[in-house]
Amino acid sequence: MKVVVCKDYNEMSKIGANIIITEMLKKDVFKIGLATGSTPKKMYEYLIEAYENKVISFKNVLSVNLDEYVGIDFNDNNSYHKFMFDNLFNHVDINKENIFIPTPKENELEKSVEEYNRILDKIGKRNLQVLGMGNNGHIAFNEPSNKLNLRTSVVNLKKETIEANSRFFESEEEVPTKAMSMGIADATNADVILVMASGKGKHYAVKKLINTEVVDLEFPASVLKLKENVILLVDKEAYSGE
Ligand code: GLP
Repeated sequence: MKVVVCKDYNEMSKIGANIIITEMLKKDVFKIGLATGSTPKKMYEYLIEAYENKVISFKNVLSVNLDEYVGIDFNDNNSYHKFMFDNLFNHVDINKENIFIPTPKENELEKSVEEYNRILDKIGKRNLQVLGMGNNGHIAFNEPSNKLNLRTSVVNLKKETIEANSRFFESEEEVPTKAMSMGIADATNADVILVMASGKGKHYAVKKLINTEVVDLEFPASVLKLKENVILLVDKEAYSGE
C-alpha cells in the first residue's frame, strides 16, 4: 500500500483527480468504481474542471457505485443517486446508460441485489475504484462484524455510522438503518484502488489501516492489505490526528 500524505483536503482532491485522469487517459474504455460521501466531493469538482478544459471525456466511461440507502427516495437530497448526479454526472458527458448505482426497491430487495450482482459480473474488474472509509473502518457499507459479505447485500448500519451520517440529515431518526452495498470482493475488484480519507475524524481508521498486520473483520478496511496497487491518499489531519 502506497501512502500519500497531502497538506490539506484541497491538495488531496487535486492529487486524487490527477490519479484518475492519468488512468483514464490510458484506456479507450474506462471502468471506474465511484464512492459518495463528503470525502470525494472536491475531487469530483476537479474531474469536472478537467472535462470542461477538454482534458478528459466521460463518453467512454462506465461507472459503478458502491452503495445506496434503503427506503430513501432517489430524488431525496441524501440519496446517493442524487449525490452522484449533482456532484458529477450532470456536469460531464457520461452516457446515462453507463451509470450503475445500487437501486434497492423496497419490496424487491432480493431481486435488486441479484440484479446488481449480475451487472457487476458483466462489468468485471474495474480499472480504478475510489473508496472512502467510515470512521470505524467500513468500506462501502461493509460494517465491522464477525463476517463480511463478499457480494452485494442489504446490510444493517451500525449505530456509529448512523451517528456519523446524521450530519447530512435533519435528525438522527431520519437516517435509514439499512443500505444496499457492494460486498468486500466487489468493492475491491479493481486494478487500482484509491482510498481517500480527510480530517481528524478519520485518524483512527487511517492509523489502523496503515499499521494492521492482520485481516480484522471488525475493521473491514484491513482487507485492503491483501490487495496490490492500493493508494491511500490522506490529508495531514487524517494522517497525524492533529
Ligand atoms: C459512508 C459511505 C461510504 C463512505 C463513508 C465515508 O457511510 N457508505 O462509502 O466512504 O461513509 O463518508 P465521508 O466521506 O462522508 O466521511
